[in-house]
Amino acid sequence: MSSIAVLGCGNIGLSIVEGLISKDKKSAGSIFATRRNYTSLKAIADKGVQTSADNKKAVQKSKYIIVAVKPYRVLELLKEITPVLKKDHVIISVASEITIDQIKATLKKDIPVFRVMPNTASSIGESITCISTKNGTSKETADVSKIFQSIGETVVVDENLMEAATILGACGIAYVLRFIRAMIQGGIQIGFDSETATRITTQTVKGAAELLLQKGTHPEQEIDKVTTPKGCTITGLNEMEHQGFSSSLIQGIVKSFEKIEK
Ligand SMILES: NC(=O)c1ccc[n+]([C@@H]2O[C@H](COP(=O)([O-])OP(=O)(O)OC[C@H]3O[C@@H](n4cnc5c(N)ncnc54)[C@H](OP(=O)(O)O)[C@@H]3O)[C@@H](O)[C@H]2O)c1
Repeated sequence: MSSIAVLGCGNIGLSIVEGLISKDKKSAGSIFATRRNYTSLKAIADKGVQTSADNKKAVQKSKYIIVAVKPYRVLELLKEITPVLKKDHVIISVASEITIDQIKATLKKDIPVFRVMPNTASSIGESITCISTKNGTSKETADVSKIFQSIGETVVVDENLMEAATILGACGIAYVLRFIRAMIQGGIQIGFDSETATRITTQTVKGAAELLLQKGTHPEQEIDKVTTPKGCTITGLNEMEHQGFSSSLIQGIVKSFEKIEK
């Protein structure tokens, strides 16, 4: 893999760097991580990553430029590095809501631009990262996918789906965690202490996800296996539906989407 600069190495930037190093320790020397308070990056510097506050220098030493500052800082940062950007650089923006066209208009150079959306499970290598581009080649798309496979799975989508990707993939973590919290609360009410309810719930959620991932089945196929006629599972499930479970989740996702689209 060619050298990579991570500009704005905060939460998500650091997850990416840590993911890259954990997959390949030797890659540390070809990673350049920046933030203004770069001394806080000592842990990755100790592993061989080159850390500094100098964005331009990091860009000059790298091919893939991951822009991981907050969205309101992205265009200002791009203006700062534009003088040192060359044709063989590849820009990868992690920022939500900043479009490829906005990035290209700021750069005013014909450089491949990718827009990607990981989630916070990147810190444990379990992100799903949605990737989109308008002018990246298939080789560059494969390379960008490889970078983000260091923090989990990847999927390439059209740019017009990136807002939806933000809702389903990045905000999705919060929806699932709220579901898990509710299940733990139910578990406590029927007799478990919090720690045991959490253990049973989290492993059950993990197991349910793995069933679909590993078998490629539809959720309803797996549900059918646990719903005995007249049994307790179907009774509970139907009550949840009467109370608006699926409808509430779908409406919440749509509301989040309407909010991001404004
Ligand atoms: N967190 C997530 O789950 C998530 C998921 C998907 C996408 N994103 C996107 O990822 C981006 C970063 O989010 P985050 O949560 O990682 O934010 P964050 O923790 O605040 O990280 C951003 C970092 O940028 C640094 N920074 C600010 N100005 C800089 C500059 N001029 N040059 C270099 N570094 C600079 C800041 O450090 P200093 O103050 O030390 O400079 C900070 O550590 C956002 O655009 C967000 O939309 C985040």
